[in-house]
Amino acid sequence: MEKIPTQIVMEGLAKIAVPDFSKYRRENGVYEPTWAPVFYNPLMKLNRDLSVAVIEAYSLRRKALKIADILAGTGVRGIRFALEVNNIDKVHINDKNPLAYEFMIKNIELNNVANKVEAENLDANLMLRYHRFVGELFDYIDIDPFGSPIEFIDSALATVRINGMLGITATDTAVLEGKHPSACIRKYFSKSVKTYFSKELAIRILLASIVLRAASHEMGVNVKLGYYNKYYVRVYVTISKGAKRADESLKKLGYVIFDREKETFFIVHDLAKLYSFTDGKRYVISGPIWLGKLGEKEFIEDVYKIITKKSHLKYKEITRLILMLKDELDYPPLYYNVDSLGKKLKISIPSMNNLFECLRKQGYNAIRVHCDPKGFKTDAPLETIIECFKKLSH
Ligand SMILES: C[S@@+](CC[C@H](N)C(=O)[O-])C[C@H]1O[C@@H](n2cnc3c(N)ncnc32)[C@H](O)[C@@H]1O
Repeated sequence: MEKIPTQIVMEGLAKIAVPDFSKYRRENGVYEPTWAPVFYNPLMKLNRDLSVAVIEAYSLRRKALKIADILAGTGVRGIRFALEVNNIDKVHINDKNPLAYEFMIKNIELNNVANKVEAENLDANLMLRYHRFVGELFDYIDIDPFGSPIEFIDSALATVRINGMLGITATDTAVLEGKHPSACIRKYFSKSVKTYFSKELAIRILLASIVLRAASHEMGVNVKLGYYNKYYVRVYVTISKGAKRADESLKKLGYVIFDREKETFFIVHDLAKLYSFTDGKRYVISGPIWLGKLGEKEFIEDVYKIITKKSHLKYKEITRLILMLKDELDYPPLYYNVDSLGKKLKISIPSMNNLFECLRKQGYNAIRVHCDPKGFKTDAPLETIIECFKKLSH
């Protein structure tokens, strides 16, 4: 570590030694975290801030938590849990990179958390399997990989306590959003489609894949929170045990049919119904996807309360995101996009406010979605949306 130029950053309540940003800049001056010998991405701060609030919300009404941050990099996230979450017993931070391990040791020292945080230097699957082998299960496991988290899910399921939580990031959004359909089938065993609602589809494909893996362990999945931000998907799920729970979760999987001709979509719960969409040129079948809600209202309300109480977590981007996620729970899966509809109808695109006003006058509700500035959810049928578009076009 002596040989690596470092700098100290403040994140949340932690002081973290990270590789010196100035040594790993692109020609345009932008810092490229993957070029550094140990990974730290300041752009993922919101992801970590929100994870602090989520873990605090999850820890309410539970015994002190045992946590594993299995792909820890500098250890920033796990150290922040130890410093910022009230109800923590122990945090194990792990990374297979020996240099990351040195940074983790240094950061534990810098933050004076050796009583609560322990660093490990193993392959993440081996680390989890070892803890399972010695009978040490975790209340919360964080999976924050480069790209897809899939290779770590089985070990995490094997090592999480009953009703324990998994926090999972996927940064391979191009795969989940349908830009590489074969890769999506290989990784997630789901068919994606590249269209205007693909960002939410990405969250739902990741969740379906977790449900399928959990089912093979006779476990059910409860979605506490799922969102898309910048270039990643993040989900928080709790795991219940038993074949019945697994079956209940599997019942929440289904498909979406994208109608290319009308630029709309249909949700299909029942596999047998897929056979009615025979026109392969017009209809694209995507799935399996998670058709349940992308969170639990009470849990999201707890997260929001925690954010508003901790001044360093309370900023516009995070509170706006949480409130939007809460509102979206009242609507069915997926969303429309004003630009795509306007293009399809070959008419001018109304402002979102005018469109919502028009839909409200017809007795329907509509809201913006968190993952797309041009996206909206509504309970209005497509015909009414088109009517409003036509009324507002000039
Ligand atoms: C995206 S970074 C994690 C960033 C970190 N969670 C944070 O918030 O700053 C992924 C990390 O996983 C580590 N890694 C990749 N594959 C691994 C494996 N199989 N076992 C353990 N660590 C692994 C890498 O060395 C890297 O530090």
